[in-house]
Amino acid sequence: MDFVRLELDGAVAVITIDRPKALNALNQQVLRELEEAITRVAHDGALRAVILTGAGEKAFVAGADIGEMTQYTTAQALIFAQMGHRVLASLEALQVPTIAAVNGFALGGGCELALACDLIYASEKAKLGVPEVTLAVIPGFGGTQRLTRLVGKARAKELIFTGEMIDAAKAKEIGLVLEVLPAAELLGHCRKVAGTIAKRGPVAVSQAKRVIEHGADLPLKDANELERQAFALLFGTADQREGMKAFVEKRAAEFKGT
Ligand code: CAA
Repeated sequence: MDFVRLELDGAVAVITIDRPKALNALNQQVLRELEEAITRVAHDGALRAVILTGAGEKAFVAGADIGEMTQYTTAQALIFAQMGHRVLASLEALQVPTIAAVNGFALGGGCELALACDLIYASEKAKLGVPEVTLAVIPGFGGTQRLTRLVGKARAKELIFTGEMIDAAKAKEIGLVLEVLPAAELLGHCRKVAGTIAKRGPVAVSQAKRVIEHGADLPLKDANELERQAFALLFGTADQREGMKAFVEKRAAEFKGT
């Protein structure tokens, strides 16, 4: 892969979009490579969390590649949007938690990429936004939907209609990012969160993710039923027995993901 790096660090994978000369903009090749990295991660049963970040000092991802989109016809734009949606949906569907380490500009498709992750942390110098209307288009990789679900309709509309960037502090204030860290501490913080998650019961964590994600699109009654079913099914795992036995025996649990 030329523009995407996949590094394994114990139970944690770090995917880095590595095209700093174009502020890590997502062209078709980058999207294909990102999809390849996500597929590899999806097939690695030893992984417990994934961190996504951008190479260089300046950007997480500054959006879809504007140069590549300039000549798109309507049909080509639809294919590109379908590709972006497919890749981000595959990221969102990973069984393990995903963490966006937003180390700089996260704009347009870059903000949408972060929104497809479970947790978003940002460096103090990060700038986030969905500036597509400045190019006379709209977010095309799920931004109108995921941003709205995360920060609410009115904030999403404000960001999408104005196209203005916001700084990390404002992004935290509106609930777009969870925490703001000094740039030098961002990745370390994300690794620490990933490490904590990696110590928990892996099947429980992935079931929690599944129930939260699927439940969000269901009526409350059905979503609660989904939770009850998953809760009960976890009592069929060896990890549940180990977790509760370890508590009773006052020792640390050793989970195997089974
Ligand atoms: N696509 C392609 N190239 C990009 C890019 C993008 N989204 N963003 C930055 N670049 C390139 C620039 O063209 C420039 O390349 P050259 O050195 O070859 O000229 C290089 O990255 C550095 O960028 P700047 O010189 O512009 O850096 P800056 O510090 O002056 O400005 C910036 C930084 C404010 C992020 C500015 O680059 C910018 O506004 N970028 C575009 C942001 C944007 O509009 N993103 C949304 C894209 S549309 C989209 O994403 C659709 C969708 O939903 C799928």
